[in-house]
Order: sequence, then structure tokens, then C-alpha cells
Amino acid sequence: MEIITDIATLRTRLQREPSIALVPTMGNLHQGHLSLVRIAQQHAACTVVSIFVNRLQFAPHEDFDHYPRTHADDCQLLEKLAVDIVFLPDEKTLYPVSQEFQLLLPPLADTLEGAFRPGFFRGVATVVLKLFNIVQPQLAVFGKKDYQQLHIVQKMVQQLNLPVEIMAAETVRSADGLALSSRNSYLSEAERQQASDLFRTLHHIKQTIAQGNRDFRALEQSARSNLASHGWQVDYIALQQRETLLPAQVGDTDLVILAAARLGQTRLIDNLEILIQEPAINTMERISNPSSRQAV
Ligand code: PAF
Repeated sequence: MEIITDIATLRTRLQREPSIALVPTMGNLHQGHLSLVRIAQQHAACTVVSIFVNRLQFAPHEDFDHYPRTHADDCQLLEKLAVDIVFLPDEKTLYPVSQEFQLLLPPLADTLEGAFRPGFFRGVATVVLKLFNIVQPQLAVFGKKDYQQLHIVQKMVQQLNLPVEIMAAETVRSADGLALSSRNSYLSEAERQQASDLFRTLHHIKQTIAQGNRDFRALEQSARSNLASHGWQVDYIALQQRETLLPAQVGDTDLVILAAARLGQTRLIDNLEILIQEPAINTMERISNPSSRQAV
């Protein structure tokens, strides 16, 4: 495995590769990241994992200074997976001058996560675009854990005609359901026990919908109240259409619940996709009443 810290060396090294997959990360790697790496490795001759804690996507009051930087451990994990290249630039390499050119994002970037972290997606999109330009991968892998981020990167690639395919990787969870995240390391032991409440809440909403409940706004509200009554500070719990990430309406069948909530000092996000199945049509009923197809 090669660790490359500067752009010119990386570009020269990548010239001889027939196909390149990029896994952009901020380090502090866990099994979630490693699952992205495995996907990348299955689809390209050369896998590049970038590790860069991107100041642009942190608001001044956020945890940029404290964000866990564990480069030696990260490189060991990646070495074990036989990753080809780790791109480990420092800040002067990616931002040699103040990054004045940034992207203008669609209104969606100011909703949900963006409403609570103004400028976050602009910072993400800007660094991801820079990484795409530097590495020029045919493929890049992003986790569904950061659902809105994945969505925005996909739209950016479509609308800016970037020649890269975005692959989405499923969220990796602990046995109790908690989505793996670098920020889980901020949780105290007691908070860690409680942290899977978030996933259980999403799962409960999914079950309630499967049982026929379509009062999406009431479901969001009762989930918020329930978490709040157990000491969570909820930023949002939102049932959205998967395709647009706009609020889901009765009749929509392809949904995702997105959530962000704080437990003590730690802010966690999670999501769960929900596909509402149309009921199978009862053959006898169809024969007697051909227009009887009803949504659940
Ligand atoms: O998901 C992350 O770790 C970051 O937002 C990313 C995509 C590496 C950009 O800094």
C-alpha cells in the first residue's frame, strides 16, 4: 500500500491504472468505511482511499478541532485490506489558498441536515469535487448512512456531468442497531447503551407504516416526542420521498425516514428506507371487481 500526500505524485502514480475507485473519508475508520473499500475493490483495478478532515464542512462551533484523527490506525486497517493507495493530503495541499470558489447548491442542501448545519453540504460538495478532479476515478463509493450527502453527491454528478459512477453502500450497524459512525466514540458508556434508541425509533415507524398507518406527520411528531421524553434533543425526524428527499405524502411508496438527534454532547444521524408494497391483488376479487386495486 502506498501513502501519498501530494497531488502531483498521486496523479503520476494513477496514470498507469486502467480503472480507479475512490473512497473519500475523513479517517477514524470503522467497519462501515471498510465495507465501502471492499465495494470499491470489487469494481476497479486500483482503489484510492482519501483521508482528509475537511474544515469547509464544519461550522465554527462544530467539532473540527476535536474530530478524531487516527491516521496510523487507519493506515493499518487499510493495509490489511490491501488497499492500493491512501491519499493523505494536509490542509495546505488541498487548500493552498483560501477556497473562494465553492459550489452553489440546490435548496435541498438547506433542508434537514443542511438546516441544522448551514454550509455543510457546500463544504462537502466542494471537497468531493476537488477529490474527483484530483483522483479522476471512474467510480466513487459513499455510504447510505449519510443519506442526504449521498443524494446531493449523486445530483452533483448528474447535473455537472462528472464522469464518475457513484455507488451506494448499505449502513453497517452494531448488533443493537446503532449505525457505525466516527462520532460514536464521543458517547459515554451510558449514552452508548441508549444510542440504539434512534434506530429502534426508525424501525418502529417503519413497522407502523407496514401496518397501514399513513399519517406521516403524526408519526414524525410522536417519534420526536418519544425520543425527547428519553432525554434526546431531536433536530429532525422526517419521512421523505426517496427520489427527491421532499416530504412524503400519502400515496408515495418509496420513502426514507431521516433523523438527527443529540444524546448529551453527541449528535447522531441515521435513516431507514421504506418501500410500501402494494397488496397482492386477490384473484377472485379482481375477477368480480376489476378496478379493486388498493394501496396498503
Ligand atoms: O462522509 C464523509 O466522511 C465526508 O463528508 C466526505 C464525503 C469524506 C467529505 O469530506
